[in-house]
Amino acid sequence: MIDRLGRPLRDLRVSVTDRCNFRCTYCMPREVFGRDFAFLPRADLLTFEEIARLVQAFVAEGVEKIRLTGGEPLVRANLERLVAMLAALPGVQDLTLTTNGSLLAAKADTLRAAGLRRVTVSLDSLDDAVFARMNDVGFPVAAVLEGIEAAAAAGLGPIKVNMVVRRGLNEQSVLPMARHFRERGQILRFIEYMDVGHSNGWRLEEVVPAEELLAAIDAELPLVALPPNYPGEVADRWRYRDGDGEVGVIASVTRPFCGDCTRARVTAEGQLFTCLFGVRGHDLRTSLRDGTTDAALRERIRSVWSVRSDRYSELRSAATSALERVEMSHIGG
Ligand code: GTP
Ligand code: 5AD
Ligand code: SF4
Ligand code: SF4
Repeated sequence: MIDRLGRPLRDLRVSVTDRCNFRCTYCMPREVFGRDFAFLPRADLLTFEEIARLVQAFVAEGVEKIRLTGGEPLVRANLERLVAMLAALPGVQDLTLTTNGSLLAAKADTLRAAGLRRVTVSLDSLDDAVFARMNDVGFPVAAVLEGIEAAAAAGLGPIKVNMVVRRGLNEQSVLPMARHFRERGQILRFIEYMDVGHSNGWRLEEVVPAEELLAAIDAELPLVALPPNYPGEVADRWRYRDGDGEVGVIASVTRPFCGDCTRARVTAEGQLFTCLFGVRGHDLRTSLRDGTTDAALRERIRSVWSVRSDRYSELRSAATSALERVEMSHIGG
């Protein structure tokens, strides 16, 4: 099954909650996600059984790779139960999770035992003052590093670390981060700050282009390009010339990768989005709750995917920028 631009459906990113214990300024700024913000009521969230059924339908339509996201997925109670349900589904070739790492030290072992294969952890700096300014809840770097170490010890590797780089905020952290994770054999990826959602007040001047980042690293730690692991990989990969270690850049602003985008996203309340920058989702929860058959559910997925023509990052125009897009914390990264 392919969309209007010939792209198959291969990856599904499932958000399990719209809540998060951080308030990263580029994702859930306090002015918007404050005390009064109306998060989804519990009854609106898909149950684990509903998620598992949905995943099964997506797998039957070609999905091989599942990533659990949020908000922060580990704030959802008993997530390991969902992991175990998904790990048991035939056809799921890759099962992973994107987390801010804050609860990972406590949960790594149970997640691994439930069948999670690997994790990706977000961390924007090794400097407490800089990190606190970015997560905006004063969360310490050491606790995230502990989570990463616990995940590595539990066998949830190779671990990837995602760092969003924002001009004037954490550029100074790029090289220390590169050195730190290189020494530990963990893969660091730098993400260009994106105009996702409509509340982070994104400005192009705050994007540090991947080219510039790579030049800065290469000047200190010379790099050699690596080929992609698989077609459509979002990160461009590099290794260090003088030995071990890998870094990546996710240049969705300066070098968009819509051409081979095979990703679908489902929000915690069961809305299907065919683009990270989507404006409107397609409700699947109703189908999950009204007795719709598996065959009809699959037909619904096909009917959405087959007319998909999204390529927001390639277009990124003033007209689309003005639309009320779904928030990153709602749709998952
Ligand atoms: P693996 O290769 O499976 O480890 O994962 P990945 O490279 O897909 O990485 P991950 O899911 O961690 O994505 C990293 C970041 O890339 C996300 O948090 C987003 O910021 C960005 N990203 C991922 N997918 C897309 C996409 O479809 N469009 C855009 N614009 N950005 C994306
Ligand atoms: N631009 C780029 N990356 C972002 N993330 C969240 N918001 C943005 C944004 N505006 C990243 C997080 C995490 C992943 C889920 O997405 O830092 O690594
Ligand atoms: Fe939470 Fe991740 Fe968004 Fe930060 S980027 S507020 S950790 S969901
Ligand atoms: Fe895919 Fe949309 Fe991201 Fe392009 S902008 S890569 S179509 S999710």
